Amino acid sequence: MTSTRAIRTVHTVAALREQVRQWRADGERIALVPTMGALHAGHVALMDAAREKADRVIVSIFVNPTQFAPTEDLSRYPRTLEADLDKAEGAGVALAFVPDVAQMYPEGFCTTISLSGPALGLETDFRPTHFAGVATVVAKLLIQALPDIALFGEKDYQQLQVISRLAHDLDLPVEVVGVPTVREADGVALSSRNVYLSAEERAAAPALYVALTAAARRITFEATTADAVEEAHAAIIAAGFELDYLEARHAATLAPIASTMEGPVRLLVAARIGSTRLIDNVAV
Ligand code: PAF
Repeated sequence: MTSTRAIRTVHTVAALREQVRQWRADGERIALVPTMGALHAGHVALMDAAREKADRVIVSIFVNPTQFAPTEDLSRYPRTLEADLDKAEGAGVALAFVPDVAQMYPEGFCTTISLSGPALGLETDFRPTHFAGVATVVAKLLIQALPDIALFGEKDYQQLQVISRLAHDLDLPVEVVGVPTVREADGVALSSRNVYLSAEERAAAPALYVALTAAARRITFEATTADAVEEAHAAIIAAGFELDYLEARHAATLAPIASTMEGPVRLLVAARIGSTRLIDNVAV
């Protein structure tokens, strides 16, 4: 069947590499936006930023099984390929790379990237195998596509730091670019997981961002980091969340940090409401 879309879709690493080879021969600058699909305005912001920085934008759409724990429902993750291709095409993306699991993890696959530094704590305390899965698939995507730049949302701030460090440590010839979080009018960070929220949970959801921004303001102007974090903690619990973590970390290394005197501070939170787990973060 011939596609009527302007965006081209390829499913194999060989086809991806051939297209990239042609663009490179024409001297074009290439950006990669790795995604797991279920694209929303946050992803469109990544693609828009990519368009501004490169001649050709590739979006990868792959629900990566290795970053889900057995307790997390991989089969429940939203899969909306046709709508995703519409959005990517609308954002001026030239190529969608949509591999299947066998393409990314062929029979016998047995290599995993091992991490420390920014991968320590926070998400890793609750999802111990998550970043090894993310790092391995992102390293593969970067090596497959060999883009000049790769863009990731600041919404997954720890992921962004892990990937920046990974690219640096493995000498991958790519610039990792973070793009600010896109939010609803009430402050809720856009996430593919927001579709799981009931109306009542969605109504409570802004409490995360409200508590984070209040804490950031208090740290800047009046309170100790510990006091501000404690107050934000209480506000989030009062809004009906169960908290996994709320921490102040160094914005680049993600090492624990006690005050802005020690370096730039980022506040990061993960909290559960009903069966949905939300994460968010703000700069201080
Ligand atoms: O942020 C995501 O959507 C995923 O973790 C990523 C970076 C595409 C790797 O699967």
